[in-house]
Amino acid sequence: MSSPATRIVRRAEEKDILAMAAINASVFSGDRDNPESAEKWMRCFFNAFPLYQYFVIEVDDSIAGYIGWQFHGGFLRSAPVIELEQLGISKNYQGQGLGPELTDKSISEVAKWCRKNNSRIESHIYLIVWGYAHNFNAMKVYFEKFTDGVMGMRRQHGERTETMLRLKLPALLPIREE
Ligand SMILES: CC(C)(COP(=O)(O)OP(=O)(O)OC[C@H]1O[C@@H](n2cnc3c(N)ncnc32)[C@H](O)[C@@H]1OP(=O)(O)O)[C@@H](O)C(=O)NCCC(=O)NCCS
Repeated sequence: MSSPATRIVRRAEEKDILAMAAINASVFSGDRDNPESAEKWMRCFFNAFPLYQYFVIEVDDSIAGYIGWQFHGGFLRSAPVIELEQLGISKNYQGQGLGPELTDKSISEVAKWCRKNNSRIESHIYLIVWGYAHNFNAMKVYFEKFTDGVMGMRRQHGERTETMLRLKLPALLPIREE
């Protein structure tokens, strides 16, 4: 009997960009079927760290998916806002719970980074995501994680409606010394 697959979630490194771009070009329309263009796009975000933070999920040493989080409006906001900007799971690995696992674990990591680097947080970190209303697979994952529910609506890409979901995460900061 084969042993169960090993899954690891970790911060993305430069060596991961090609694999991430291959996933991007196969599951998103922005650079569909053009991994070179996807790589160019993703390198911009990768180089924007810590404004933008990528994480990957590895299954048995293969990059099976990635997620990107973007900080909005400055690093020292009293009510920080961090957006799940993109979540992509390779077609071979979709439907196996990797997206939810990557979302959960990367939320812990971006929130940890935020707490460590922002001494002005008042009480909560606000996590948001915009998702196409018709992308049922993604919305299923998002509704389970961003439990404050729908907080906004927009039509940024043509007529396709997106809704914004939110998770208000308690910051749980230690009591500050006087
Ligand atoms: C949306 C996405 C991130 C979800 O990640 P995931 O690891 O597949 O998540 P799950 O395994 O929890 O699947 C979520 C739901 O979608 C369904 N699903 C996922 N991929 C599927 C596929 N290829 N075909 C049919 N159903 C699929 C699952 O069955 C599940 O529904 P269920 O619980 O009713 O069975 C991933 O499918 C993906 O990358 N899709 C393409 C890119 C995308 O749309 N990204 C989100 C927008 S930024």
